[in-house]
Amino acid sequence: MHRGLCYSFLLSLSSALLIHDQDRQGPSQFLHSEICGTNAPSAALKDAHQRFSSSLQRVMTESPESLPTIEIETWFHVVSTSDQVNLVTNEMIASQYVYLQRAYANASISYNFMGVDRSINDTWARNGDDREMKRALRRGTYNSLNIYFQTDLQVSESTSNVNSRHTKHRIDGIISSRDSQSSPNLLGFCSLPDPKINSSSSFDDYITDGCNILAATMPGGSISHYNSGGTAIHEVGHWHGLLHTFQGESCASTNEGDYIADTPQQSVATEGCPAIKDSCPNLPGLDAIHNFMDYSSDDCYQSFTNDQAARMRNMWSSMREGK
Ligand SMILES: *[C@@H]1O[C@H](CO)[C@@H](O)[C@H](O)[C@H]1NC(C)=O
Ligand SMILES: *[C@@H]1O[C@H](CO)[C@@H](O)[C@H](O)[C@H]1NC(C)=O
Ligand SMILES: *[C@@H]1O[C@H](CO)[C@@H](O)[C@H](O)[C@H]1NC(C)=O
Ligand SMILES: [Zn+2]
Repeated sequence: MHRGLCYSFLLSLSSALLIHDQDRQGPSQFLHSEICGTNAPSAALKDAHQRFSSSLQRVMTESPESLPTIEIETWFHVVSTSDQVNLVTNEMIASQYVYLQRAYANASISYNFMGVDRSINDTWARNGDDREMKRALRRGTYNSLNIYFQTDLQVSESTSNVNSRHTKHRIDGIISSRDSQSSPNLLGFCSLPDPKINSSSSFDDYITDGCNILAATMPGGSISHYNSGGTAIHEVGHWHGLLHTFQGESCASTNEGDYIADTPQQSVATEGCPAIKDSCPNLPGLDAIHNFMDYSSDDCYQSFTNDQAARMRNMWSSMREGK
């Protein structure tokens, strides 16, 4: 079942404010665990990072308008169980889009909103058939961003199959309810760019490309401290090829980390929003806890670095543009 939402209506909502959770003292409904079922980035993607890190075109964030804007066709897909049909409001969709635009503005990356569709399918909403869901809903080509907001996103048979077959998938921030023993929900996961995709690749070669997001993480959602829309920003960072700031989870000199020079080496993912954190005290710099590619809570998220912005632009040119 699909229902279109017209673009102009969404634009009229685009000034909607992000809703920030103020209840920092309140009991947390969810535990944000350190477990991450993420597969390692492919050797080819790591090679690309290595290449770009040695020939880095620095981005001047002082004048983002001087960089040509990268325009990305973007589709939102809201997928609900039959009893959660009203969970995602149009205002949440508009606020999420506004945050997406703002978060990437310094990189001169802009998301050209093409539309949103809504589906009601209990299996899809639970991430029970990722391939079929995306076969039905995915729009555009390999350079189009498709984001699936699923009301009951969880680790599933389908996810683990997909992950064992395609190493480009990541599963982020597994959370589990204190109140139930049911299968753990996921905040989100997304596909990294696949260097093997070229302009003659078929739809089937990249059908699972895109970001899967737990709908309750959208602005105004129900998950305390993770309901300002930061999860979508983080996952789209992966879509652009970025790795975690704590990639490799070690302070060793052999750890290549995220291949980004201006994010200090970090050995532990950040939970919540500490005042300060330094997981590699013998190395320069504090942990980039305000960086979108850490695991901090939404209230902690602020920005990407200059080198991350440049890397996303390089990845776009080599991995997705024209494909
Ligand atoms: C719901 O998902 C199942 C499993 O992928 C699929 O077979 C079915 O066609 C879907 N239903 C609708 C109405 O799209
Ligand atoms: C695209 O990729 C396919 C499969 O890897 C390859 O066979 C083909 O030669 C490539 N085409 C181009 C134009 O690079
Ligand atoms: C954009 O750049 C400005 C100036 O460096 C910085 O203050 C701001 O936090 C950045 N915003 C984002 C979302 O990266
Ligand atoms: Zn991640």
